[in-house]
Amino acid sequence: MNQIINARLRGHACLHTLRWTDGIISAIEPQADTLSAAAAGSEGLDAGGKLVIPPLVEPHIHLDAALTAGEPHWNRSGTLFEGIERWAERKALVTREDTKTRAHRTIRMLAAHGIQHVRTHVDVTEPGLGTLQAMLEVRDEARDLVDLQIVAFPQEGIESFAGGRALMSEAVAMGADAVGGIPHFENTREQGVASLHFLMELAERHDRLVDVHCDETDDPQSRFLEVLAELTRVRGMGARVTASHTTAMGSYDNAYCSKLFRVLRQAGLSFISCPTESIHLQGRFDSYPKRRGLTRVPELDRAGLNVCFAQDSIVDPWYPLGNGNIVRILDAGLHICHMLGYEDLQRALDFVTDHSARAMALGEGYGIALGRPANLVLLSATSDYELLRTQGHVLASIRHGKVIMRRTMGELSWAEGPAGPA
Ligand code: FE2
Repeated sequence: MNQIINARLRGHACLHTLRWTDGIISAIEPQADTLSAAAAGSEGLDAGGKLVIPPLVEPHIHLDAALTAGEPHWNRSGTLFEGIERWAERKALVTREDTKTRAHRTIRMLAAHGIQHVRTHVDVTEPGLGTLQAMLEVRDEARDLVDLQIVAFPQEGIESFAGGRALMSEAVAMGADAVGGIPHFENTREQGVASLHFLMELAERHDRLVDVHCDETDDPQSRFLEVLAELTRVRGMGARVTASHTTAMGSYDNAYCSKLFRVLRQAGLSFISCPTESIHLQGRFDSYPKRRGLTRVPELDRAGLNVCFAQDSIVDPWYPLGNGNIVRILDAGLHICHMLGYEDLQRALDFVTDHSARAMALGEGYGIALGRPANLVLLSATSDYELLRTQGHVLASIRHGKVIMRRTMGELSWAEGPAGPA
C-alpha cells in the first residue's frame, strides 16, 4: 500500500490523494475531479469520497481490569462500591498471563475500531508491581497495532496506602510513561493535597506526563482540581497534565466555577470525560431530580480548554458493556452533554481525535501532514455529522503505511412486494 485516492479530508472541500514512502506521508495532493477506482493501482486504496482521518484515540482506559465482568461474580447493583468489591474478588485471581491475554484481546477490540493510540492506567498499589511489568511487556508486544502510554495509577491511594509513594517511584523507574493519582480517594483532604504535590514533583523530576483521576465523585466539596491546576500553572506543565473525570464539577455551584475556570485557563491543562462510565456510576445517591454526574464538557470547551472523550472500562466490574468503539462513546457524550447543536456536530470527531492526541502529547507523531507517520483511518461517512447520524464505522486502518484492518459493511436488501412511496 502506498496511496489513497478520492480521500475526503476534514475541513477541505475537494478530494485528495495521499501518498507515503517508507511509512511516512510524502504527498497530499488536491484532486480537480473524482478519480476512477483504477487510478488507485494495485498498491492503492480508493476512499470513494469518504472521510480519511488520523487514527482514533483512546486516552483513558484500564486494560488491566478489562474483560473481567462476572468473574467470579457480577456487579448486581451496578454501583461503584459493589464494583470495588467484585474487583477485589477478581484481583485475587489475576496472573501475569491472564493480565496480558486480556490486555491484548482488548487492544485488538480497540484497533478494530481504528484506534492506534491508547493511554491505559495500570494499578500500582500492588507490592511487587507484577501487573505493571506485564503491561510494560504488552506495550512492546502490541506496537504493530497501537502506541500504548502507561500511567502509574495508585488505585488505593498514594498517601493512604502503605508504601504508596515508594510504589509510584518504582513504577516510574520501571518505565511508566505518566504519573497518576486519585486525590479524592485518599483518607483526608490533606492527604489528597499531599498526593498531588508528590506526584507533580515526581513527574517533573523524571520528565513524565501526568494524568490524575480527579474528583470522580458527585461530592461538590471534592475540590482537588483547583490544586492540580495551580500546581500545573506554577510549574508551567499545562501541555503535559490531564485531569480525568472531574465529575464533581457537575455538582459545583456556578460562583465557585467562575473562579475555578480562571485558574484552569491559566494552567492550560487537558480534560478527559468518560461519559458512559460516569452516567452509569455517578448520581447513585440521588433520588429525583438525578444528576448526570459528568464534568462541564461544553463549558470547558467554550473556555478554550482541551477536552476529549474516553471509554474508561470495557466489560469490567464497574461497567459491563463496551466493544472498543470510541464513536459509541462520542455519541453518548454529545447526547449527555447537550452538544447536538449544529456547530458541535460539524466538529464532533475533534473530541476523539485531535483533542485526545493533544491530551496525550502526541505532537508531530499524529495528524495528516507531510513528514508524519502514515497512520490513517478510512470512515464509512463523508462528514462528522454523517458518521454520527448513521452510526458509521471504520472501514480501514493504515499504520506506518500498512493496512492493519479492513471492514466490509453489511448489505441491506428489501423483500419483493408492493413498492411504497419513494
Ligand atoms: Fe479511570
